[in-house]
Amino acid sequence: MTVRPAEAGELEIARQRLAGFWGDPILVRGAVYPLADCEVLIAGDFEGLAAISRRDPPIAELVALNAFTPRRGVGTALLAALPGFLGPGFRQIRLTTPNYNLDALRFYQRRGYRLAALRPGVVDLARREKPSIPAVGDYGLPVRDEIDLMLDL
Ligand SMILES: CC(C)(COP(=O)(O)OP(=O)(O)OC[C@H]1O[C@@H](n2cnc3c(N)ncnc32)[C@H](O)[C@@H]1OP(=O)(O)O)[C@@H](O)C(=O)NCCC(=O)NCCS
Repeated sequence: MTVRPAEAGELEIARQRLAGFWGDPILVRGAVYPLADCEVLIAGDFEGLAAISRRDPPIAELVALNAFTPRRGVGTALLAALPGFLGPGFRQIRLTTPNYNLDALRFYQRRGYRLAALRPGVVDLARREKPSIPAVGDYGLPVRDEIDLMLDL
């Protein structure tokens, strides 16, 4: 699975696909990440996308990751490409996922990422402002909390 930085025309297409899944801007820990300010990696023929922000070195924020063809190694290939893409100057990669995303929690921990922070109830609080946030997520789990994971480079 080849992974390459999105360039020129395909960059806008990639950002639109990510926006369709996550919205734009993407909110992480209360911080605002417009996709226009993120760099994007493309796996294969748009089989997966990763949006990365380098605005807070030495920590790089993995703002979004999608494998549109699941369980075929797309997500693994995107994660594997990240350190080389970031280059020197970055010591950690950080991401945030909700409590119900057990597939992602498993996926990242299997690939060396460690649990770094828990924010209990923050999604419940956000739902008061934005009632469209679902109450139930994967595996019938309540959508309540956020968990940060980090990888030391
Ligand atoms: C989480 C996510 C990015 C994982 O991506 P993925 O491409 O499905 O992950 P991979 O295929 O690389 O790995 C998943 C499993 O499939 C296995 N796999 C990979 N290729 C395979 C193949 N050809 N046949 C069978 N299994 C395979 C991997 O070994 C891995 O299992 P392991 O963890 O036991 O090693 C993906 O599920 C996704 O996009 N989810 C929705 C969005 C999301 O939640 N993003 C993360 C938010 S923080």
